[in-house]
Amino acid sequence: MKETIVFLTGAGISAESGLQTFRDAGGLWHGHRVEDVASPEAWEKDPSMVLAFYDARRRAVRDARPNVAHEAIAALEERCEVIVVTQNIDDLHERAGSRNVLHVHGEILKARSTVDPSLVYRLAKATIDMGDLCEKGSQLRPDVVFFGEGVYALAEARKAMRNARRVVVVGTSLTVFPVAGLVKEAPFDAERYVISPDSHQQVPDGYMFLQGKASDEVPRLLRDWP
Ligand code: OAD
Repeated sequence: MKETIVFLTGAGISAESGLQTFRDAGGLWHGHRVEDVASPEAWEKDPSMVLAFYDARRRAVRDARPNVAHEAIAALEERCEVIVVTQNIDDLHERAGSRNVLHVHGEILKARSTVDPSLVYRLAKATIDMGDLCEKGSQLRPDVVFFGEGVYALAEARKAMRNARRVVVVGTSLTVFPVAGLVKEAPFDAERYVISPDSHQQVPDGYMFLQGKASDEVPRLLRDWP
């Protein structure tokens, strides 16, 4: 049987594709904390501002290209069962060729209804504008998780972690729950790694820290697998 390898990825894996992380230098948008823009309260108060914030991120995603870390993970699928659990709202894993991706924080290239969360649409244009409506007549919002909202596919992500023989955590500060808690679900006898260039990176018990950029460390680690 093919062994399952789970990648838990965050903003750092897309940093070398030119997409900003949340908690490295910057992390602000027009002087606001991201948490104050990407929240249900902000949406309630000023939906145009929230839409503009995500429009800017969507443009950046459309201009970005997958890097060698995304590509190495996708190439591993030829040889192993791979599940990518990503906090990223970009589609760089898919564009690199990964087919089994769980977007626990949603997807910036999709919009969803504000009255019926099951109505999700792939966006044909770069923006969501006020007045763009779902088929039930309600305003569309980005299909992403705002701070304080429930995450997607958590049960599936937990199951993947529990069945993993190897787990590779790449480019996440492991500060945002419940996703950060997934690292504890991996079997104690699974090989477990954390990749980040940050010497202050959180490294959970049982995980080996590989300090470096995703573009160096991911291809190096995967080269001889399985
Ligand atoms: P963070 O910005 O919190 O963390 C980025 C991590 O990537 C840090 O550990 C960096 O050291 C690391 N990093 C930076 N450059 C890297 C590189 N070239 N290679 C590898 N690692 C690198 O981003 P996340 O942990 O993804 O949620 O943030 C989690 C969530 O917080 C996001 O999904 C978002 C945000 O609020 C929502 O929007 C709901």
